[in-house]
Amino acid sequence: MKKRALIFGITGQDGSYLAEFLLKKNYIVHGVKRRSSSPNTERIDHIFDSINKKNKNLFVYYGDVTDSSNIIRIINQTKPHEIYNLAAQSHVKVSFELPDYTANTTALGPLRILECIRSLNLEKKIKYYQASSSEMFGNTKEKPQNEKTKFDPRSVYGISKVFAHHITTNYRDAYGIFACSGILFNHESPRRGPNFVTKKIISGLLRIKNDKQKYLTLGNLYAKRDWGHAKDYAYAMWKMLQGKKPNDYVISTGNQITVKQFVSLSAKRIGIKLKWKNKGLKEIGIDQRNNNTIIKISKAYFRKTEVDDLLGNYSKAKKELKWKPKFTLNKLIDDMVANN
Ligand code: NAP
Ligand code: GDD
Repeated sequence: MKKRALIFGITGQDGSYLAEFLLKKNYIVHGVKRRSSSPNTERIDHIFDSINKKNKNLFVYYGDVTDSSNIIRIINQTKPHEIYNLAAQSHVKVSFELPDYTANTTALGPLRILECIRSLNLEKKIKYYQASSSEMFGNTKEKPQNEKTKFDPRSVYGISKVFAHHITTNYRDAYGIFACSGILFNHESPRRGPNFVTKKIISGLLRIKNDKQKYLTLGNLYAKRDWGHAKDYAYAMWKMLQGKKPNDYVISTGNQITVKQFVSLSAKRIGIKLKWKNKGLKEIGIDQRNNNTIIKISKAYFRKTEVDDLLGNYSKAKKELKWKPKFTLNKLIDDMVANN
């Protein structure tokens, strides 16, 4: 019998890679997409087509994690062996503008799914994956961060993810659900949303190189992140649900650089020689080919409270799941450049 997986957030970056991966593993994949006024299935259109049935093992349903009624219906209808909850309002800065909606989706969404599993008496039948985040570590002084590092979140998004993380542990302990949280550090890909910094930098630099844009405006250049590739991280999600016991795992690369270093490295790989000048809001990046200012800074992109320093220790995943990242940072950037 084929395994069945249900993915909340299948239209997102990670959901699309996970769906591809599970289909290759011969799963029947069910996915939940939100209703939107214009198409939001761009990332899965190559594998899904409701009319011509490009893939007979992939099914997509309208749903929303802010509404329990559809969650019950879809779980009942699809009878999944594994649920991956990747649905979230996932942008940290936007969470300051949409606090109520972010908490409703990112914190209460997982509670609704877990509560459906419990109320349908499916505790022993469904394995559950929760998309936890390194953003939960926030302002911690511990470095690198591991599964035991104390959370100190700095945004509505981070705080919502801490709630979701704890509620997942609680449903595992209280009701015996095989529930795992992957504490994933930043991961990127050609499918990354355009308003996350890596995608914004690479798309912007490519447009500048091709004379389609004059400059790129960024915020805090000095935050440090541990950036990996979404393909490697989707594989880790699946690995967690194949373990003997449910557990939580940090997934990261173990390397970090600043946003500024990411700009310089990307520019170099794209063939732009960049020189930095000035400090603070006056800091600029100059294209040495023509002396044009191609990087500017604006207050508009700074966060009210920032997370300065994220670096993950993935030894537990390496030991117990035999997981390690395949993509180096250079390979990640090259993939994003080649498939922008
Ligand atoms: P993403 O590209 O923003 O995808 C989020 C997905 O959630 C999209 O499919 C989105 O639908 C869906 N969604 C949003 N609100 C929803 C709602 N109310 N009901 C149902 N679906 C909803 O994010 P991602 O980068 O793939 O990340 C996947 C998950 O991992 C998220 O939970 C994120 O917070 C978490 N995470 C991400 C990273 C990272 O670096 N990428 C790191 C740690 C944790 P639309 O396509 O219609 O918007
Ligand atoms: N988005 C954005 N846009 N960020 C900028 C910009 C800009 O113009 N300029 C500087 N930054 C800085 C942010 O202040 C932050 O410190 C860093 O770049 C990374 O920002 P994002 O790419 O937006 O990612 P994030 O780290 O806030 O959140 C991502 O990673 C989390 C895991 O730690 C998201 O994918 C979250 O969903 C995820 O949980």
